[in-house]
Amino acid sequence: MRYLTIALAKGRLAMDSLDILERIGISCDEIRDKSSRKLIFTNEELKLRFFLAKANDIPTYVEYGAADIGIVGKDTILEEGRKMYEVVDLGIGRCRMCVAGPAAAKELLQHGELIRVATKYPAIAKDYFYNKKHQTVEIIKLNGSIELAPIVGLAEVIVDIVETGSTLRENGLLVLEEICNISARMVVNEVSMKMEHERISKIIRDLKEVVRDNRG
Ligand code: PRP
Repeated sequence: MRYLTIALAKGRLAMDSLDILERIGISCDEIRDKSSRKLIFTNEELKLRFFLAKANDIPTYVEYGAADIGIVGKDTILEEGRKMYEVVDLGIGRCRMCVAGPAAAKELLQHGELIRVATKYPAIAKDYFYNKKHQTVEIIKLNGSIELAPIVGLAEVIVDIVETGSTLRENGLLVLEEICNISARMVVNEVSMKMEHERISKIIRDLKEVVRDNRG
């Protein structure tokens, strides 16, 4: 039996992903050691390998087959647009993709004005403004602390994820429009799905059951 490789997104989502995998009998305690700098881990008994990568890179590893399976947010899946199967909504890492800004920017959105939009998600922002709203905007790619952009005058609005809403609130910004709901998904390489159909289907079935139970 060959090793199945599972890619997890570094940080909190990896820990939440491990919790859910544990519930279907897949464990790897070593990954939880926060003091370790190790990136790849093996569960010999189950013939599984796990690795930790930047969330944005997980779709790339899965499309190329360097990982058979990945667990990553829908935001990253939409942004990266990679070829792979999205098989289970795990219901963890829930948040919303929103257009946000100061209250005064609401009018600029309603009147379809040529505004600047700062975001870590240029593909999602482009799809939303160009294809759904038919509004021409200038998209400015940033890498973090997106909420700064409207405060310092880099952009009129931002496209970003909102979880608790605290970051917006504490910086005097509001959700102006909702783009979509986000949660973590299990994704599978297209060839692995055929070659390892039995093992991967079992993981999918088991995970779907856990998610169903969670929803009660
Ligand atoms: C994300 C997002 C928002 C914040 C939303 O940032 O970009 O800034 O979380 O969460 P909240 O609604 O609970 O306040 P992240 O912490 O990933 O850091 P970043 O600045 O690197 O984007």
